[in-house]
Amino acid sequence: MPKQAPRSDKTHKKLLAAAQAAMRNAHAPYSNFKVGAALLTTKGKIFAGCNVENASYGMTNCAERTAIFSAVATLGPKIEIAEIVVVNNHNVPCSPCGACRQVIYEFGPKAVVHFQSASGPKTLAITELLPEGFRLK
Ligand code: THU
Repeated sequence: MPKQAPRSDKTHKKLLAAAQAAMRNAHAPYSNFKVGAALLTTKGKIFAGCNVENASYGMTNCAERTAIFSAVATLGPKIEIAEIVVVNNHNVPCSPCGACRQVIYEFGPKAVVHFQSASGPKTLAITELLPEGFRLK
């Protein structure tokens, strides 16, 4: 049982489908590891993203950040992330990297994150994944 159950089964299915669709668009020729993410804003809007790699590896953008930046580009910086789902094409454990955790926290200090863990699907609060997250206030 996830620690915090998704808001509704229907919404969770929609988020999963959006993440999976975005994952298929990933540009991951170097790692062959395609990732998709979909977020739900507190106002009920869904945005998805995929990882976009680059021949200069460090330029890679993760799926989570692509989804978040897309949401900000469309709705502006006041968005708040309620939930974010992460999937990958190998169906192996994959939680958001440290950089993405910080970016999720910026736009969703109360967000919950659904991802594949070593013991199966898992849901954790962003504050569990990123204790003492940095904020400028
Ligand atoms: N990646 C993501 O997009 N999200 C994650 O949560 C973990 C890693 C991407 C970055 C890179 O394109 C590939 O997965 C392998 O690290």
